[in-house]
Order: sequence, then structure tokens, then C-alpha cells
Amino acid sequence: MSWRVPLCDLDYGPEEIEAVAKVLQSKWLTQGEVTREFEKEFARYLGVRNAVAVSSGTAALHLGLLALGLKPGEEVIVPSLTFVATCNAVRYWGGIPVFADVQSESDFGLSPGSIAHRITRKTRAILVMHFGGHPCDMPSIRKLSKDRGIFLLEDASHAPGSSLDGQKIGTLGDLGCFSFFSNKNLATGEGGMVVTGRDDVAEKIRLLRCHGMTRQTLDRHQQTTKSAGENRSYDVIGLGFNYRLDEMRSALGLVQLGKLDENNGRRRAVMKEYRERLDGVDGISLPHANHRGISAAHIFPVLLDKTLSRSKFMDFLASDGIQTSIHYPPVHLLHSYREEGMTREGLLPLTEEIGKREVTLPLYPDLSGEDIDLVVMAVKRALRHAGEAS
Ligand SMILES: Cc1ncc(COP(=O)(O)O)c(C=O)c1O
Repeated sequence: MSWRVPLCDLDYGPEEIEAVAKVLQSKWLTQGEVTREFEKEFARYLGVRNAVAVSSGTAALHLGLLALGLKPGEEVIVPSLTFVATCNAVRYWGGIPVFADVQSESDFGLSPGSIAHRITRKTRAILVMHFGGHPCDMPSIRKLSKDRGIFLLEDASHAPGSSLDGQKIGTLGDLGCFSFFSNKNLATGEGGMVVTGRDDVAEKIRLLRCHGMTRQTLDRHQQTTKSAGENRSYDVIGLGFNYRLDEMRSALGLVQLGKLDENNGRRRAVMKEYRERLDGVDGISLPHANHRGISAAHIFPVLLDKTLSRSKFMDFLASDGIQTSIHYPPVHLLHSYREEGMTREGLLPLTEEIGKREVTLPLYPDLSGEDIDLVVMAVKRALRHAGEAS
């Protein structure tokens, strides 16, 4: 289907094509100098000591949790109003995801009170997700993690460039994980990054992303006569994975990073315009109004009134050529989680309510004033339809 207004759109141009062409001409395709440069620039942008590039946001979360030394049977407190990868990353190594609820129907970030309620003797970490790029209540959550002696991780997949009190999101805990999936603010197709101030953790992640090998293909390629002997072979000192990022994607990442601040600003302008035009409209509410910090404005969620039919609303917008989405079906209600006996309906009242009524409207840097008009007018019409009896 070709949409009049799609849910998201990339800002890709000749710069990205040129950057990838340069890599192809170099004939060095796998993790190498361009990836190192991307890591260096990403770390500099965030103001953090280490950035380690990996093949996806999921890989970033998996390795981040492993590198902190968490063991099977230990618990990690997670949101349920997130993409399933946040929680799957805990299950990969035998960890137990323990779900906490969000703050309110107008703030989809994890609630510090709900987190505190879920902490047990087995809790080793809290993993927050900054919904839509809006920072969670990090001062309170950080205090909890410090007071209780548990790790704090950030799933910052929605939040590259977001900040709170002058500090970039992703750098507020022990480590932060980013996704560069196609629909993200910084998109490389597939890709991810772990950032951390802890050198020991970064070192472990570098090892685990490439099979636990002590030397990489690039080291062996770049050997000098002096280092030839030691670089010829390698040892494997941990059970690692192939979670490397390739040079083409790193080249895309560098170009996209250069555009990030400007594009986030354009996203925020779209968000502001939506808010001005939709504030007070009967039938919907707009979460995250006056949220603390600076948001990367990744997506624009609205919440429908209880009396309205979400599927009618979305169908109506679709018939007008406007793509919408749902963020998210709560993870704790997904089949795979219920089947394992980890959860039950009723566990997270706010998340469940939002999961039934949330709709995401189109948001991307190039969304024009004309497109915003189309969406706003269609939303108002769709709200009338969604209230009609079937
Ligand atoms: C909140 C969140 N966490 C994790 C992920 C997983 O990232 P990836 O698709 O790069 O593995 C995504 C991306 O889709 C996401 O939105």
C-alpha cells in the first residue's frame, strides 16, 4: 500500500549513498576503521567514555546485560509498554523479566513506585525504556538503583539525542543501548550501540560481540612485521556471538549522526504543531505534555477515550491514506510470556489500559505543514466515526 502520509520516513540522500559507495570501493566490508570512527563519534556526541557498535538494538541489550555479569534466575525489572526485545534480552541468558507499571496515562515512563514495589532479593538490575524519546524519571530511578545496590540500564532506542538536566539519555545508568533499525531517528537498516562509562564493561562487550576472540580480522589484516607473530592466531576466552556491525552500516551511521540534532529539532517542531492543533479535541488526550528534559520526539502517541473504537479510528485514517500504529501491545500479555507463566492480565493496570487505547500518528523530520493538516483533519473526522455504534 502506498500511503499519503506514512508513519515514518527516512532522511536519506546522496550523502548516505556516497558514504556507502566509498566503503564498497575500499573493499573492507566487515567491522573495521569506519566502525571505529562511528563508535568514536557516537561516544563524543553522548559525552561518554565508550561506545561499542553491534548488529542490532537487541544485540546491544543482550550483551549489555551479559557484560554486567548477571546470572540465570536473577531478576531484571522491565517495562511492558515497550518493544518485546527489551524483555527478550533478559530471557536469552535465563534471567527473569519482572514487569513494572508506567507512571500514568499521560507519562508512559516506568514508575519509580512500581519499580520499588517489584524489587526482591533476586533483583540485579532495572532496565528502563524512554518511551517516544521522553526521559523517564531518572533522578528517582537512579536513587533507587544506588540505594538498593542494583544496576541501572537504559533502553535508549527511542532516544538518541534526548537529554535530561544537560546529560544525554543513555549515559545516566551503568550502560545504555541504542537501536538503529530502519524506523529510528538514527537509522542504518539494522544496527545498534552500547554506551558505558565503565571500561571493563565495554571491554567485555567488545569481546562478546565477536565470538569471545582475543584478536579480530582487522588486527590480523593490519599486522606489522613486528606484531605479525602475536597477531597470527587468537584465543577464545568467553562464549561470544557474531554481533558485529559492518562498515556499510557504520558509514550510514556516521552520516545520520551528523544530521541527528537538526532532524530531532524538526521532529520536535512537528510534535509541537500536533499538540497545538489537537490539544483539547474531544475524544483524545496527548501524553507527555510538558515532559521534563529534551525529547528526541521519536513517535507521537495519542490516547483515545474509552468509549471509542480504536480499530474503527485506525481504519478510518487508513482509508484516508494515513498510516498509524500501536505502541505497544503490552509485552506481559504476549503469548510467549503468558505461556511461560511469567505474567497475568491485571498485573499492570495502567500499561494494560494504554495498550488498549494508544494510537501512534505519523512523525518524521520531513512531515510538511500540509501533511500535518491532512492528519489533523482526518483525526478529527475519524474521532467522530470511532464513536458511532457498529
Ligand atoms: C524500545 C526498543 N527496544 C529494542 C529494540 C530492538 O532493536 P533492534 O530492532 O535494532 O534489534 C527496538 C527496535 O525496534 C525498540 O524500539
